[in-house]
Amino acid sequence: MGLEATNHTLHHREGWRPTSVVWANLKEGDVTRLEPVAGWTVALVRHGDQPVILSDRCPHAGGSLGRGWVEDGELVCPLHRWRFRLPDGGCSNIPGERVERFNAQVRAGRVWVRLPPDLEAGPLDSTTLPEETDPRP
Ligand code: FES
Repeated sequence: MGLEATNHTLHHREGWRPTSVVWANLKEGDVTRLEPVAGWTVALVRHGDQPVILSDRCPHAGGSLGRGWVEDGELVCPLHRWRFRLPDGGCSNIPGERVERFNAQVRAGRVWVRLPPDLEAGPLDSTTLPEETDPRP
């Protein structure tokens, strides 16, 4: 096993999981709904050169943030327009409200998400996450 393969394995053990999303297919401000990643439906946003992944479920009335849009660096819920800051998931118009934010990164051209430790052992949906293969080009 080479060094890169070792790093790949360690990366996976730390809770990072690949999504099916190819980074190059996203344009600035694109919002995509992914379902489910270890039980979480999430919203992915291309924000500059960074992927941002928030829980899809709006805390107000369950609207799908993955069907929302980005305005001024905030993800807007399509139902009643609550706004969530991309850097921390905080709600900018209702103090104290927020959505879960997951660490995300681009690795070998795909978007990866880091799951909280208590979710790492959860089942993955093989219909939305590709077979675990080495994603290197
Ligand atoms: S459900 Fe999101 S603002 Fe109402």
